[in-house]
Amino acid sequence: MTDHLHPEPDPLVIDQVRVWLAAAARLVVTTGAGISAESGIPTFRGPGGLWRRFRAEDLATPEAFRRDPRLVWEWYDWRRGLIAQAAPNAGHLALVEMEQGRDSFQLITQNVDGLHQRAGSQRVIEVHGNIWRVRCIDCGTESLNLETPLPQLPPRCPCGGMLRPGVVWFGEDLPRTALETAWSAAEQGDLMLVVGTSSLVYPAAALPDIARRHGARIVEINPDPTPLSDRADLSLRGSAAQILPRLLSP
Ligand code: OAD
Repeated sequence: MTDHLHPEPDPLVIDQVRVWLAAAARLVVTTGAGISAESGIPTFRGPGGLWRRFRAEDLATPEAFRRDPRLVWEWYDWRRGLIAQAAPNAGHLALVEMEQGRDSFQLITQNVDGLHQRAGSQRVIEVHGNIWRVRCIDCGTESLNLETPLPQLPPRCPCGGMLRPGVVWFGEDLPRTALETAWSAAEQGDLMLVVGTSSLVYPAAALPDIARRHGARIVEINPDPTPLSDRADLSLRGSAAQILPRLLSP
């Protein structure tokens, strides 16, 4: 939940984005932690953000995991617990509706919470992985594990190896296929909505620039300005759960 009060965006600006949405043959949406904020999942950098309370280098790097896998897993298991209790909000649901009936649509999320899929979005690329996936550091097998709290930390693979969370950590490459698909969607889109991300973490933060260079319009939806704001065609200041439903056809 955003801690600020924001003026409602001008209805004329909302109408303009509706017109762009209706005209867009290829719609691309990128999302970050802000879209899940109103589901009660903390963001990383804002007020109450995880990186204000925890050090990324202790919890979200391959070195941290090598040093103290149990500590890293305790943190991820805590986050899995928060996510398990959360439900998709009106912002996630509006994106499901935007996808329906569109031939060309791609949702690209930096979130690992799986809330877009739980809401019903089909064409989702998770560029930072998924917190419900686990991967064996020995045999490389990846699987889904929905249990939380986990009975044993760190959890083990049937091969005996240690499992790690199936997410991307600082200093790691993004999953290649996911990134390539995201890149090509950005190149082909004619409208991109950038929702609830601080636009600070690369390469995901480069996607709007790729889209823009290939002729797409960029619309940012975020209560606060970001480094992207100056390059966006329009910025709608407000929360995702308030604004996204208003962009659907009346
Ligand atoms: P951040 O926490 O950096 O940014 C969240 C953004 O959401 C901010 O710009 C807020 O202003 C905005 N926001 C807050 N509440 C909102 C609401 N109700 N509706 C819409 N927007 C809202 O999160 P990300 O940009 O997703 O990576 O962070 C990117 C990556 O950094 C994450 O995937 C994670 C993190 O470290 C890794 O762990 C690798």
